[in-house]
Amino acid sequence: MDLKLKDKVALVLAASKGLGRASALALSAEGAKVAICSRNEDELKKTAAEIHKETGNPVIAITADVSDGEQVLSLIERTAETFGGIDILVNNGGGPPFDKFENFDDGAWQKAFELTLLGFSRTSRDVLPYMKKAGGGRIINIISGSVKSVLNNAVLSTAMRMGVVGMAKLMADELGPYQITVNNIAPGLILTDRVKEVLPKDVGHEQALKERAKTIPVGRIGKPEELGALVAFLASEQAAYISGTTIQIDGGSTRGIL
Ligand SMILES: NC(=O)c1ccc[n+]([C@@H]2O[C@H](COP(=O)([O-])OP(=O)(O)OC[C@H]3O[C@@H](n4cnc5c(N)ncnc54)[C@H](OP(=O)(O)O)[C@@H]3O)[C@@H](O)[C@H]2O)c1
Repeated sequence: MDLKLKDKVALVLAASKGLGRASALALSAEGAKVAICSRNEDELKKTAAEIHKETGNPVIAITADVSDGEQVLSLIERTAETFGGIDILVNNGGGPPFDKFENFDDGAWQKAFELTLLGFSRTSRDVLPYMKKAGGGRIINIISGSVKSVLNNAVLSTAMRMGVVGMAKLMADELGPYQITVNNIAPGLILTDRVKEVLPKDVGHEQALKERAKTIPVGRIGKPEELGALVAFLASEQAAYISGTTIQIDGGSTRGIL
């Protein structure tokens, strides 16, 4: 299936590795011109070069912290200047820390808000003029399965991401007339560095993966490229009628029915 992404412009946040990188690679492989950002400049440039080498399509790397309003505005302006507009925004960021509710002070809540909710709202608002000018667009938020199924110690992630779900639904209402769709992707367990770091260390890597996969119906942890493929589909012309949804990608692990 041709996803009709050739020469579309995609901005993918927090994309030097993990789910952001996989999303950028999938969009680039479909012919999109891609801008990626993250904080570590060397890693970001390396990733941009790797994606370009693999797909042959243009990729630019712009260092930015997604929780910093000025840096994000400049990132959006530079992307649009370089590629002539923005058609697709993939909102992503580092996840908030895990701990019990009573251990988070005001500072931790504020930081989680800026990274995970305010950051997503700011980028979405600032790309709108470009998408409206282009006659349509795609906003895709990478959030977490914790909005569908309770995850221990994930109070910051759950609280902020429930906010993203509500925001996306209202945005889908308001932006539908402009042919701009807004959707959330809720990953379960996908094997990125973030997940590798929290695997049990008392057994070998392969054994730790097997242990973690025991509660996943398909019997394994997900691959970043599987999430990348979903991003590419949601960004496609064929997905024009999908908006305001939250799509789980979790090998069937979510226990809720709705
Ligand atoms: N992997 C999973 O199974 C899973 C499940 C549920 C939810 N999620 C969520 O999905 C998101 C991505 O997770 P991941 O597994 O891909 O993580 P990862 O492998 O640790 O990658 C995180 C990426 O985000 C960048 N980043 C982090 N903080 C940033 C900031 N403030 N500004 C700009 N870039 C930033 C990192 O680069 P720099 O550090 O250089 O900035 C890196 O490129 C997280 O929010 C996570 O909570 C992941």
